[in-house]
Amino acid sequence: MIMRTYIVLLGPPGAGKGTQAEVIAEKMALQHISSGAIFREHLHDQTELGKLAAQYMDRGELVPDDVTIAMIRDRLERPDCALGALLDGFPRTRSQAEALDGMLVELHGAVKAVPYIYVPEEILVERLAGRWTCRSQGHVFHDKYHPPKQPGICDEDGSELYQRDDDKAETVMRRIRVYLVQTKPLIAYYQEQGLLFQVDGTLSIDQVSASLLSYLGALEDHS
Ligand code: AP5
Repeated sequence: MIMRTYIVLLGPPGAGKGTQAEVIAEKMALQHISSGAIFREHLHDQTELGKLAAQYMDRGELVPDDVTIAMIRDRLERPDCALGALLDGFPRTRSQAEALDGMLVELHGAVKAVPYIYVPEEILVERLAGRWTCRSQGHVFHDKYHPPKQPGICDEDGSELYQRDDDKAETVMRRIRVYLVQTKPLIAYYQEQGLLFQVDGTLSIDQVSASLLSYLGALEDHS
């Protein structure tokens, strides 16, 4: 039986998880699973889950663990995750990390690596204020650091670019505070398991990609 591969991307809001996930998922042929993107799809479709999640997302708080864990479990059990997945935004609490460990035993897989993209707080606000996200598939751009060829239009699929409601300065500050209290402790959780790899997220997008791909490539060669 093939062991499934799971990679967990850690980092504060705006560190570049989604940006790098697009690159790594393609190179490693892993499904990119973004918990935030799944919540936004539900909100767009006005499902009960989407309406519930919005109450927390609008405040910059985390959606309750039980709801989030059930949603991710359902997503990871689908056939397109048969080889594993690249997790972006999950887990975000110790309970979610422990639940993930349990799920992966059932799915005959394991977390192989946890790249942690480190970016100091003062840079995060500027990153999120200038971010533009594609309406159809969530491709990410930035006014200054990764501008689309045509303003307001996604280079990848031609769909409209929009600014997320939770990227307002006040909500960003709240998201960063929530990250520091609830998610940052996962650095120690994965460090203790020997899975953490810290990347300097202040480098250019291409430099961060190169560093991540070289580390993950070396891991594959040794597996
Ligand atoms: P989510 O959508 O996961 O947001 P996040 O973690 O806050 O992360 P972001 O998407 O804001 O940032 P990112 O690190 O992906 O950065 P990006 O690549 O876009 O979650 C949203 C909400 O959903 C949460 O607040 C919560 O309510 C809920 N939620 C989600 N998961 C949950 C969970 N597990 N449990 C409970 N609740 C959950 O980059 C940012 C910008 O910077 C872009 O414009 C990009 O172009 C630019 N950029 C990227 N890299 C660089 C670089 N190296 N140099 C310069 N610019 C760069």
